[in-house]
Amino acid sequence: MKDLEQLARSRLSDRRFLHVKGVAATAADLARRFGADEQEALTAAWLHDMFREVKEPEMRALFLEVGLEPPPGAADTWHGPLCVARLERDFDAQVSAQVRDAVAWHTLGHPRMGLLAQVLYVADAAEPLRDYEGVRRIREAAARDLEQAVATVSDMTIAHLLERRSEISVQTVELRNLMWSRVRAREVRDDADNDARGRLVHA
Ligand SMILES: [Fe+2]
Ligand SMILES: [Fe+2]
Repeated sequence: MKDLEQLARSRLSDRRFLHVKGVAATAADLARRFGADEQEALTAAWLHDMFREVKEPEMRALFLEVGLEPPPGAADTWHGPLCVARLERDFDAQVSAQVRDAVAWHTLGHPRMGLLAQVLYVADAAEPLRDYEGVRRIREAAARDLEQAVATVSDMTIAHLLERRSEISVQTVELRNLMWSRVRAREVRDDADNDARGRLVHA
């Protein structure tokens, strides 16, 4: 596999390269803390925006060249799936299914996202150069609970798209619902445990 950091530097503007560098550092940190593979997290992070600065007609041509149609939805959500479609051809990259899913789903999210994909999704939204209203809430959630951070990122994405009257992917909504339902289920369990412990203490 080629040196992905060098490759990102050569393909991206300075501004975007610094974003990707921040995502790599944040993804490695989240991977360490939540038990994902750190090397895989770095690979996914260096890859995720390789096609972010390619214009729509060229992206369309790059999909067609490997026998694929562009996915449904806005063109600014194509760069992840396009990267996965062209991994072998452009980067000589053999990567795991987890890395492929993480890169493919980093913009829209997906209810089947595993740990590594969750790490990239949150790192992309929370890297140190991100500066938007609400980014602190994502960082605070990411300090404690990865699923809550994923849920918070998808909430904010959905709110942003609603405000702009843009299309909202069903994948994003399904991910959001699933993550909050898991967070709630865990909170209910923790409350029950605390109650039980409280009863023991007072017994
Ligand atoms: Fe992206
Ligand atoms: Fe990104």
